[in-house]
Amino acid sequence: DFRGLLAGKTVTITAGPTREAVDPVRYISNHSSGKMGFALAQASLNAGAKVNLIAGPVQVMAPEGVNLTSVQSAQQMLDASLSVIGETDIFIAAAAVADYRPSDVADQKMKKQPGQDNLVLHLVQNPDIVATVARHVQRPFTVGFAAETQDVEAYAADKLVRKNLDMIIANDVSRTDIGFNSDQNAVTLLWQEKSTLQSHSPEQAAKQDLAQDLILCIAHRFHQ
Ligand code: C5P
Repeated sequence: DFRGLLAGKTVTITAGPTREAVDPVRYISNHSSGKMGFALAQASLNAGAKVNLIAGPVQVMAPEGVNLTSVQSAQQMLDASLSVIGETDIFIAAAAVADYRPSDVADQKMKKQPGQDNLVLHLVQNPDIVATVARHVQRPFTVGFAAETQDVEAYAADKLVRKNLDMIIANDVSRTDIGFNSDQNAVTLLWQEKSTLQSHSPEQAAKQDLAQDLILCIAHRFHQ
């Protein structure tokens, strides 16, 4: 019975890109659409969970009934994630967080300098949100994503261990027909069981159908 699968549980999901300010009018970001994270939010609602959706700037509509927090930067996404960690049973990190942000945000719009052909932007590393959650004292069951272009499962398995995750959803972003901005996705879900790597690879499908399959699998493992 899918409707009762996560009844009484709280699922927190990060989704979409982050925006890292350069100055008051410019930012560094990426092409994440947020579709996979929003589909997972809908599937979690369908499974009876309370859902916190922490989203960067996206064009997709939040499913009715989710508790939406809109953020811009990685730091804001981390703060929003930590503010609900105590009530979160399952944390799913579907956001495409910018790895780096400008070290200083200019107070005023930066001006083009005549005769200056090159500009160097100094960047600093952002906090790793999912790894921070997975090492927290109030650690929820934690699921991450691994978008890779080669050796997809090997890199994902490494990330599973390195970020201290319970499960990881790996997808091949070198394929242009699926992933990032597409409505379709093909993924492999990986986890450790009795110190051996287990995997589940649903058929390529619309992100909504895939999300339903992934939530079923995540809930199953969560209840074990
Ligand atoms: O290391 P990589 O960015 O490939 O890891 C991807 C996973 O880590 C995704 O689940 C993503 O949401 C999460 N992540 C994060 N905070 C970051 C970078 C990645 O939560 N700063």
